[in-house]
Amino acid sequence: MKLFLDTANLAEIETVASWGILDGVTTNPTLLSKEGKVNPEKHLKAICKQVVGPVSMEVISTDTKGMVEEGKKFAKWAENIVVKVPMTGEGLKAVTELKKFGISTNVTLIFSANQALLAAKAGARYVSPFIGRLDENGEDGLMLISELVQIFDNYAFETEILVASVRHPRQVTEVARMGADIATLPFAVFEKLLHHPMTDLGLEKFLKDWKSTQK
Ligand code: E4P
Repeated sequence: MKLFLDTANLAEIETVASWGILDGVTTNPTLLSKEGKVNPEKHLKAICKQVVGPVSMEVISTDTKGMVEEGKKFAKWAENIVVKVPMTGEGLKAVTELKKFGISTNVTLIFSANQALLAAKAGARYVSPFIGRLDENGEDGLMLISELVQIFDNYAFETEILVASVRHPRQVTEVARMGADIATLPFAVFEKLLHHPMTDLGLEKFLKDWKSTQK
């Protein structure tokens, strides 16, 4: 499973990229707003330089024409830009249109299997089901991923399942077991994947025992 970082923070991206396991980045307007007043073009270009894989940047327009214009503009910023569009009828039309120009899209704010099916049929490169928000709404985010993996396995879609709105490491294990293509994680969750208290205790003991062998 590929692992993306869900952030617009350059320091976080640098840290995870330095571990050598970063496959891509997803941003959204909320994540960008956490960086304060930034120039979106400059900021995204800086992110794209730090990352070898795809970097999602979300459109603000809600009509197809505006989304396509924004998407074409983003695509000029860097080769690895993926245009994020919302899961609406206008968004689906933008996906089809942008595909004609060879521009990859990520359909965001997906909360049902049928929405993902429509986005895949429209030709999206990625679909982003939001599992944490579903759980918080009293629904079952993991169940949605298991349905999507099954549905996408039944057909020859090129679309990848990009699990989004991840809240904790157990969800990462579960979606990997299910065979999701990608999970995008906030930095805090990414860091938690690294650690286990028994690793720390084990290392402490190894180092202590090594010291006792020295004269
Ligand atoms: C995905 O691309 C989104 O940026 C993200 O995962 C949203 O998740 P949230 O529920 O943490 O805002």
